Amino acid sequence: MSDSTITPWVVGNWKMNPMQANSQQLIQDLKQYLKQTPITEQQCHIGVAPISIALLPIQQALLDAQSPVKVVAQDLSRMAGTGAYTGEVSGELLKDSQIDYVLIGHSERREIFGDDVEHVKAKVLNALNAGLTVIYCVGESLEQREAGQAEQVVLQQICDLATVVKADQWHNIVVAYEPIWAIGTGKTASPEDAQAMHAQIRQGLAQITAEGKNIAILYGGSVKPENAVELAACPDINGALVGGASLNAASFFEIARAFAKIKE
Ligand code: 13P
Repeated sequence: MSDSTITPWVVGNWKMNPMQANSQQLIQDLKQYLKQTPITEQQCHIGVAPISIALLPIQQALLDAQSPVKVVAQDLSRMAGTGAYTGEVSGELLKDSQIDYVLIGHSERREIFGDDVEHVKAKVLNALNAGLTVIYCVGESLEQREAGQAEQVVLQQICDLATVVKADQWHNIVVAYEPIWAIGTGKTASPEDAQAMHAQIRQGLAQITAEGKNIAILYGGSVKPENAVELAACPDINGALVGGASLNAASFFEIARAFAKIKE
């Protein structure tokens, strides 16, 4: 059983998917599931992270949802405020559109789009200063795991985070552990391996801040309805960051139920 004092989070990262019509359909389907079987905010925080130009249409479509569903940006600019930064969207501009949550440091951003440690730190700083809640992604590559460096890599990423989060901002941090080798590959970390890393992260956070014991640590990497129940049963796994399976409303809802159940 997960730590019952932490409300789980299940967030669907839609990545560069789907077309607008399909995203609207996905939300209508999700709303239908939530109408039949509501999930309260106390049971589980549910979020979806659409492409940037779908953030507002999805937010609009969710206004009459039976259960609250948070709209999460997949990224933000490392530049704050407003200004001459073509193609960028700052934390302040997200907040101005009532988008209160953002993913930062996803391995696809780090690996494909050159988000280095300094960029990631600047993004976290700006997001927190703008009043956003950050879902901060960490995770090791297959090479790093095979070299026995997984823990060190992930804990360093937590230390990077700690250099920019002020003492009174930790309540706006959610951590997502996503081993890179498990993303989109169908390979999930075993619940034992995932739990072991989550426990290390928890310990690392607890050494940094008294809030550490209250921070939700999500697992990501090929989470599906078939493995969600086992993952949800691990004491330090407080939710899931779901890629592929979040593009199917039935699968995503089932994953949310697996985590929400523990609060019933
Ligand atoms: P998959 O669930 O498709 O493996 O993606 C995980 C992920 O990267 C979520 O951010």
